[in-house]
Amino acid sequence: MIPAREFARRRKELMALMGEGSIAIVAAAPERPRSRDTLWPYRQDSDFWYLSGFPEPEAVLVLVPGREQGEYLLFCRERDPARELWDGPRAGPEGAKEHYGADDAFPIDTLDDILPGLMEGKGRIYCTLGKDPAFDQRLLGWINRLRRQARAGISPPGEFVDLDHLLHEMRLFKSAAELKVMRKAAEITARAHVRAMRACRPGLYEYQLAAEIEHEFAMAGALEPAYNTIVGGGANGCILHYTANAARLRDGDLVLVDAGCEYHHYAADVTRTFPVNGRFTAEQRALYEVVLAAQEAAIAAAVPGNHWNDPHDASVRVITEGLVELGLLRGRVEELVEQEAYKPFYPHRAGHWLGMDVHDVGDYKVDKRWRLLEPGMVFTVEPGIYVAPDNRKVAKKWRGIGIRIEDDVLLTKDGHEILTAAVPKKAEEIEWLMKG
Ligand code: GLY
Ligand code: MN
Ligand code: MN
Repeated sequence: MIPAREFARRRKELMALMGEGSIAIVAAAPERPRSRDTLWPYRQDSDFWYLSGFPEPEAVLVLVPGREQGEYLLFCRERDPARELWDGPRAGPEGAKEHYGADDAFPIDTLDDILPGLMEGKGRIYCTLGKDPAFDQRLLGWINRLRRQARAGISPPGEFVDLDHLLHEMRLFKSAAELKVMRKAAEITARAHVRAMRACRPGLYEYQLAAEIEHEFAMAGALEPAYNTIVGGGANGCILHYTANAARLRDGDLVLVDAGCEYHHYAADVTRTFPVNGRFTAEQRALYEVVLAAQEAAIAAAVPGNHWNDPHDASVRVITEGLVELGLLRGRVEELVEQEAYKPFYPHRAGHWLGMDVHDVGDYKVDKRWRLLEPGMVFTVEPGIYVAPDNRKVAKKWRGIGIRIEDDVLLTKDGHEILTAAVPKKAEEIEWLMKG
């Protein structure tokens, strides 16, 4: 879905930022065992994918700006008919050049022999430490080897620079091709949420509702969710990252569904909360309206020129006002906001960057200040109210209600576009949909 020329453009852009006399080294994600000798489904590292589109494990991408024999090198597994019979085809170094645009490619087994030579004499090494400790160790080994050769006139690298800084700033601004994929992820996810609302009924297990959603994802070509699907009935909706999904959905409860598909490596992230039996109770509806108003206020503040924190602040104000109005908090709104009295009910932030990773990369602050919102950024807006089942400070009728409403928002030149607007969120729309 992302064309080869875009991967090439990204590498070029990154190398221009790195400058000559430098080298970038990025490792593919390792395979991870699930049980004994079976593995989790493989998912390429997002940075590695962003620069290469190369889907295999056991690979290392190297960029050497200005290198005459070629700036883009890939180390990867060699072709191996016996292994390929078991595990599927491999590109091999030839395929890496032919299909993935590498200027040069080598068997991964030659990494120890070739990479130190490429690093030699480069003043700056761009890499990401701390993601894969085994790879960090190897990197340090190569550097030490170069240091030991200093007396032979070999100059070891001087500076280690965090690659994240340059690369993640690039990833924060989505291109037209990326937005096309993200719109598709949003569209599939929207359909899945509508399906869940239609399928929901008392007595169903939470995992059965999750299955409805993931079925819709897979049938549309999104083979994995972008994160573990959350289906929390009743008080389970108050557990922010609830993923057990094991309980029965009860008549009279709400269910909170936080689910998004991953489509061609890009995530959607959507939450809807709706009544299991299709009708909100008075208390559920009252709190729901507060969360919805908070979400709408936050989305209204999501415009270029505002700061990252403005949507969050808007949601805090509306939620605090709502909690006061309904009697869950007592006091003056200004003071309650100041004292963060809303936090037991709304303990998280209003959103996060969204992209290849569901909690995507990119700085939220620049020079210690919340950064300005700019066109091309994509993020979620997801306020919530969660009344703990054992909160004795509020009337019993509120306890155990958990509500979050989450949409994915793209900042445009003159405002924003809600990528996930196709999922109903007005209470009456939801009730109408669930009535069939
Ligand atoms: N699904 C995780 C989140 O909303 O951030
Ligand atoms: Mn979510
Ligand atoms: Mn989210």
